[in-house]
Amino acid sequence: MIDFHAHVLPCIDDGPSSIEEALEILKMLKKQGVDKVVATPHYNDRIMDIEEFIFKRRKSYNELIEAIDIHNIPVPEIIVGAEVFFAYELILNDGLEKLCIGKTRCLLIEIPEGLWFDWICDLTDKLLDRNITPVIAHFERYAAAYKNLDRFEKIFEKNIYFQVNADSFLNKGFLRIIKKLDRQNAIHLIGSDAHNTKERSPKMDDAREKIIKKFGPDKWEYFNITAKKLLDIGD
Ligand SMILES: [Fe+2]
Repeated sequence: MIDFHAHVLPCIDDGPSSIEEALEILKMLKKQGVDKVVATPHYNDRIMDIEEFIFKRRKSYNELIEAIDIHNIPVPEIIVGAEVFFAYELILNDGLEKLCIGKTRCLLIEIPEGLWFDWICDLTDKLLDRNITPVIAHFERYAAAYKNLDRFEKIFEKNIYFQVNADSFLNKGFLRIIKKLDRQNAIHLIGSDAHNTKERSPKMDDAREKIIKKFGPDKWEYFNITAKKLLDIGD
């Protein structure tokens, strides 16, 4: 099982505030059946430049790997990425590729709520022109703002991916929206979006159960196949 969106690197964003907490989240993910997790700390270009972020992320990752080695505990493999707050200036930044996931050219992007539709098409086109594939984080949050999804039609036609949060499958309101999105073939990836071990803990196992029950095992398999394809991982 691949978790495509999680805050597991310590002391870098609003995710785990210590190495110990990061280890606990990783242990929870492993127990839930996750064998690969994409670590996606928040990046906002208004707060720091890309080089500073990369430096901090590397430090956080190295400290976590050291702790994993010392404690010798089974945890999922960590693939480093970022959850990038979408801003127009950022698209023009030469260093944007450094924020892509692992060795891929996929970029997990977070859209500022409320500003969604008017410029998203234009921005995603600019990314695609740079040969960067956008993955929109927790797409159900934006879709929830609209009664019907007609206005998203142009977006659905683009070669981009939509990630849904695991715990949204466990919420009746979001589940209704996810079903609508599914009818448009607009859910491609699942992520825990875990931040801690308490109110924003990973719920990949419960989500898996729900997805299999409501959408069938093929849908669950599809999320994992899509993740493997994007991460360029064979079977
Ligand atoms: Fe997130």
